[in-house]
Amino acid sequence: MGLKSPSRVQIPPSPPKIQGYGLRRNPFLRQKSGFEVQQLTSAQFGTDLRALRQHARNRASRCLMFRRGSDAAQQGSRHEKVHAAWQEHVMTLKFMPTIETDRLVLRPLNQEDAKDLFAIFSDPVVMKYWNTPPWASLDDARNFIDSSVDAMNRQESITLGIVVKATGEMIGKCMLFSYAKESKRAEIGFAIGPSFWGRGYISEAGHALLEYGFGELGLRRVEADIDPGNVSSGKALERLGFIREGLLRQRWEVNGVVSDSALYGVLAEDFRRRKNSPKPPSSNRRG
Ligand SMILES: CC(C)(COP(=O)(O)OP(=O)(O)OC[C@H]1O[C@@H](n2cnc3c(N)ncnc32)[C@H](O)[C@@H]1OP(=O)(O)O)[C@@H](O)C(=O)NCCC(=O)NCCS
Repeated sequence: MGLKSPSRVQIPPSPPKIQGYGLRRNPFLRQKSGFEVQQLTSAQFGTDLRALRQHARNRASRCLMFRRGSDAAQQGSRHEKVHAAWQEHVMTLKFMPTIETDRLVLRPLNQEDAKDLFAIFSDPVVMKYWNTPPWASLDDARNFIDSSVDAMNRQESITLGIVVKATGEMIGKCMLFSYAKESKRAEIGFAIGPSFWGRGYISEAGHALLEYGFGELGLRRVEADIDPGNVSSGKALERLGFIREGLLRQRWEVNGVVSDSALYGVLAEDFRRRKNSPKPPSSNRRG
């Protein structure tokens, strides 16, 4: 089984509604502008992000045509507001993807995942090199889930649970965080339960997440900050095409333990080159 592009990217079923700035009260304006904003839900587009974007663009051009009419200035500004709100909404959806790979589904977390996540992140083995102590109670899991969803709504980070398709088991999570929009940069992080190590799940999830970050989010660079002693994480990053770029001394103190940071980076151009090279990353895989 070779590493594959994410086979499907889904938009959540119930995006928040966007108010139409009075368009609903004005049927003429509504008809001319084509801004039935309340109806623009993912139900119309299913899983097709491209169609959704095209639809938003069509709406925008109709809006511009209408602006050339009599009261262009006034109506145009209304439409621009709606259009801006819609674009914002589409952008927020980009931070809440569901990505499917050969064996996994990567999806936003919800409160029902709290128990499974707690089992993983309360384990000192998993957290040995993490930048926080092991979770102490189920509330830590609940708070993490809430704050990860909030951060996705604010377009600051993407946190996805990793679910094995065949069993439906939640085995861990992967993240793109510290998103620097202007610099088109983000940091990657991942962890799975020890019984799932050594099966290539992070290679598969990480590859899909990078592809999403370089593609949909337009990132130019993804970086990782790990403990230099975390050999399996370093190997997982290198398998994904990361290069070790430097060492920052005594950068962390967790529970009184001071540790260095090994910094890794991968560029969009490296990732694409590897993907298009005759020897793809899947050749590293067993089985
Ligand atoms: C870091 C971590 C995710 C790595 O997990 P992993 O399972 O070793 O990583 P991968 O998914 O890339 O699996 C690769 C291993 O699976 C093997 N493998 C088996 N089947 C495979 C397949 N189908 N595809 C790819 N690799 C496969 C590889 O040979 C490799 O084993 P090796 O390291 O002994 O050579 C895991 O150790 C972990 O969760 N640690 C705790 C949290 C942590 O420290 N996270 C890092 C901070 S960001």
